[in-house]
Amino acid sequence: MPVRRPFHITKAVVPAAGLGTRFLPATKATPKEMLPVVDKPAIQYVVEEAVAAGLSDVLMVTGRNKRPLEDHFDRAYELEHALAAKGDLDRLKLVRESSALADIHYVRQGDPRGLGHAVSCARPHVGDEPFAVLLGDDLIDPRDQLLETMLRVRRERGGSVVALIEVEPAQIHQYGCAAVEPVGDEPGVVRVTDLVEKPERSNAPSNYAVIGRYVLDPAVFEVLAHTPPGRGDEIQLTDALRVLADVPEAEGGAVHGVLFNGRRYDTGDRAEYLRTIVKLACERDDLGPEFRAWLKSYVNEEMQA
Ligand code: G1P
Repeated sequence: MPVRRPFHITKAVVPAAGLGTRFLPATKATPKEMLPVVDKPAIQYVVEEAVAAGLSDVLMVTGRNKRPLEDHFDRAYELEHALAAKGDLDRLKLVRESSALADIHYVRQGDPRGLGHAVSCARPHVGDEPFAVLLGDDLIDPRDQLLETMLRVRRERGGSVVALIEVEPAQIHQYGCAAVEPVGDEPGVVRVTDLVEKPERSNAPSNYAVIGRYVLDPAVFEVLAHTPPGRGDEIQLTDALRVLADVPEAEGGAVHGVLFNGRRYDTGDRAEYLRTIVKLACERDDLGPEFRAWLKSYVNEEMQA
C-alpha cells in the first residue's frame, strides 16, 4: 500500500493543449503558452508560481506542438555554450533558470475533449494524492499568494478548493460560476454549494467566477471518468466539481472557494494580453522606468490627438 501523505501536496497539473485560436497566426506553429509576456513565456510564470507554492512536480498536459514547451524547460547546450563563450553570464543564468525550475513531466491529451478530460489525463501520474491545477491563461501575481492560501484551505478543510473572483453579471458567461455560502469562521473562504459552467447571465446562481487555480482531491478522477460531455460538448471540470460539492460529507467530497481580490493578469485574449504586458513591463526594475516615461508621453499625445 502506498503511504498516503494527506498534508503534503507536491504535484501541479498544467493543461497546455489548447489550440490558441484567438492568437492565430502567432499560434500556428507555437503553443499559446509560449507567447512572451514581456520577455518570458507565459507558461514559465505559471511554473514559477507552482514552485513558489512548494509544488516542484509539474505535469503538463500537452497537445500538438509540445516540442517548444519541452525545449524551453530543457537544457539548451549550444545556446549556453555560445553565451558562456561570450562571457554573457546574466543571459546564461536566464537560459539555465527555466531548465532547473521544477521536475517537469509531459502527457499527451490526444483528443482535446475539454478541461475535465485534460485533468483526467493526469490520473496515472498524480495517483491517489491531492494536486493543484493551474490554467495558463491566468497569471497570478506572486505577491498575492493565492495558491498558498488554497493549499492551506485544503489542508484545513479537506476536499477540493477553487479560486473565485466577483465579476460583473455581464461577464459571468465567460466563466464557471459558483453558488456559495459563508463558512462562518474565515471571511475569505466560502463553501461552494453549486457550480455551473459558463451560464447565461439570467441563469447564473451568483457573480462569483471560477478562475484558473484549483486544488483537487483525487476523488475528482473517478467523478470525471463518469462525467458526460457538458457545455460545448466537452467534459467540464466544473461539472465534476459540482458532483463533489453535492456530497460534502463523502470522502473527497466538499468544495470550498477562496475569494481572491489580488492581482490577476488574463493572457487569454488579445486585449487583456496586451494590458498584461504593459502592466508587467511598467513594474520591471530594468525596463520600467524608461517604459513608464515613454508610456506617459504616448498617452498624453494620444489624448491631445
Ligand atoms: C475554464 C473553465 C471555467 C473557468 C475558466 C477560468 O474555461 O472551464 O470554468 O472559469 O477556465 O479561466 P476556459 O477559459 O478554458 O474556457
